[in-house]
Amino acid sequence: MQETAAPPMIEVRDLTKYYGDFPAIEGISFTVNKGEVLGFLGPNAAGKTTTMRILTGFMPPTSGSASIAGYDVVDDSLDARRHIGYLPETVPLYTEMTVEDYLDFMGAIRGMSRRQRRLRVSEVIGICHLEEYQSSLIGKLSKGFRQRVGIAQAILHEPDVLILDEPTIGIDPIQVVETRNLIKSFGGEHTVILSTHILPEVSMVCERVIIIHEGRVVAIDRPGNLSERLRGTERIEMDIRGPVAQVMTALRNIRGVREVTRTGSGDVVSYNVESVHGADLREQIATLVAQKGWGLLRLQPVYMSLEDIFLRLTAKEADQP
Ligand SMILES: Nc1ncnc2c1ncn2[C@@H]1O[C@H](COP(=O)(O)OP(=O)(O)O)[C@@H](O)[C@H]1O
Ligand SMILES: [Mg+2]
Repeated sequence: MQETAAPPMIEVRDLTKYYGDFPAIEGISFTVNKGEVLGFLGPNAAGKTTTMRILTGFMPPTSGSASIAGYDVVDDSLDARRHIGYLPETVPLYTEMTVEDYLDFMGAIRGMSRRQRRLRVSEVIGICHLEEYQSSLIGKLSKGFRQRVGIAQAILHEPDVLILDEPTIGIDPIQVVETRNLIKSFGGEHTVILSTHILPEVSMVCERVIIIHEGRVVAIDRPGNLSERLRGTERIEMDIRGPVAQVMTALRNIRGVREVTRTGSGDVVSYNVESVHGADLREQIATLVAQKGWGLLRLQPVYMSLEDIFLRLTAKEADQP
């Protein structure tokens, strides 16, 4: 289908970053459209923070490029940054300041006039539900409320793009729910990238998710599609009566089969067939077994949750049976 939408708000092309000899990210590409909430999901050390730091202009990539609202994050860094609100992994908050003074100060740094600040500071205090604490010292706030102050400063200058690095890490469960709802409410108006290593978070908050692992993109899709795509047809378990070596070879030769493993021995052996996305091989396997004159005693698709998919996509080769 022809895409007629506006150009993407965030465009990342083949981004690579080396720390010395070590590639923290390699060839990361994706786009985010206006108003979209994109989840950046990956285990620790996957490269989430590195990517976000490049997008926010904190450091240049080794190669590749990225743009925000059409501005290159390296060549037009100032313009790009004007369009970004950033919640870093650890928010450098001034603990000796009150919430409203801090926000006013951040507004001044960003060149907002006194009048603009007066209006906007109380507005973001309202949006982030900080009214009760506006005169409190930041140092006295719980982690969850500090995180909200961090979010408030990120949206202060009404940026088009919000980049939030693990916004719910280390805060209590009730605050997590509220923070997620808050972030969700930013979609539509803002374009949001949110990083997390918490799987259910992306299904709750994000319309689309990128899974990264060891610096590379392993999947990009809607959370629903990710599980849909792998549900039922990805893995099939079966019990076959037949000569093990021949059965293994025959299964492996089926087009679309990625991996065959077996458990047990003797007359009837259990096989586990993993196929490429979207391939439903059940009929083919049944036909094959019948043609060879073996016995098919069980054929069952294995359902995968988003959790399974994530574990699978991010599992090291050595972990496979
Ligand atoms: N300044 C740095 N110097 C060297 N290595 C780094 C630096 N920052 C991050 N790394 C490494 O790069 C990889 C990706 O880190 P990071 O982007 O922080 O991942 P994530 O945010 O997904 O946990 C990790 O292996 C990390 O140890
Ligand atoms: Mg990180």
